[in-house]
Amino acid sequence: MKTEHFLITGGTGKTGRRIVDRLQNLGQNVLIGSRSAQPTFDWDRPHNWPEVVEGIDKIYITYQPDLAVPGAKEAISELVRVSKNAGVKKLVLLSGKGEREAELCEEIVINSGIDYTILRASWFNQNFSENFLLEPILEGVVALPQAHVKIPFVDADDIADIAVEVLLNDQHNSEIYELTGSQLFTFEEAIDTIARATEREISFVPLSLEAYSNALREMQLPEDFVWLIDYLFTVVLGNPDNSTVTHDIEKVLGRAPKTFQEYSDEVAKTGLWNNANIKV
Ligand SMILES: NC(=O)c1ccc[n+]([C@@H]2O[C@H](COP(=O)([O-])OP(=O)(O)OC[C@H]3O[C@@H](n4cnc5c(N)ncnc54)[C@H](OP(=O)(O)O)[C@@H]3O)[C@@H](O)[C@H]2O)c1
Repeated sequence: MKTEHFLITGGTGKTGRRIVDRLQNLGQNVLIGSRSAQPTFDWDRPHNWPEVVEGIDKIYITYQPDLAVPGAKEAISELVRVSKNAGVKKLVLLSGKGEREAELCEEIVINSGIDYTILRASWFNQNFSENFLLEPILEGVVALPQAHVKIPFVDADDIADIAVEVLLNDQHNSEIYELTGSQLFTFEEAIDTIARATEREISFVPLSLEAYSNALREMQLPEDFVWLIDYLFTVVLGNPDNSTVTHDIEKVLGRAPKTFQEYSDEVAKTGLWNNANIKV
């Protein structure tokens, strides 16, 4: 296998960390792009991006906090410009399934003149173990809006396997893959599965969108975080097109996606959901 230089943005996060591990195990050269890496890569500070991107062949782009936020389009445009100047050969963009704002960022990559693959992912399983749903699970009460919505949760391990495959192989150039799991779950069903896997009692409380936003504000979370969560629950989960299962994971990897049950059993075995002392 040819050895190349990869920049993995979000390389310590949910998908990026897994992609870094896989590429390093294959003997590839990997540079992590994050604020804690050296050289540092910060989406809010483009001044040193030319230095970061120099000598890089291919980039995995996962924007923070979300392609829907103001400033995302400008940041993606700037990274594309810098990448073109540096002779980067391929861009792989992690996008959200059924998000119009994210599609505007996809178009910037698609029209860049650089080879690309777009990965449009559904909600990650890892939101329950590596993100904002871990804390309520540890507390034993998960209160969320859109309780009736069926979501085809996808696993970050599957996204990482797909990302590595498309980074390494040109046959995926110019493709847009929609990544979902193979089953549709409500939040309540997901929490029931986790409760059974951990042998814990975890209750689910359905909330209105308004009550949820108010609760986040009462917790004094920053207004832009409240805006983003509201957007994700209203625009993304409120879009019925997002409650569908796709088959691109099987198509690209030749195997079924990880099930929510398999994910829950794996995390339960680590003890993460049983450790009430964890500071999230
Ligand atoms: N979560 C989901 O269900 C989901 C679903 C579909 C699409 N997506 C998309 O996936 C992307 C990542 O979301 P995620 O929730 O999974 O996050 P994540 O990748 O776990 O985010 C953490 C990573 O981002 C880095 N980071 C944070 N702020 C940064 C900044 N200002 N500049 C540079 N790096 C920064 C962190 O490293 P440092 O702290 O060291 O900087 C870390 O590597 C988003 O664009 C989101 O829209 C997420």
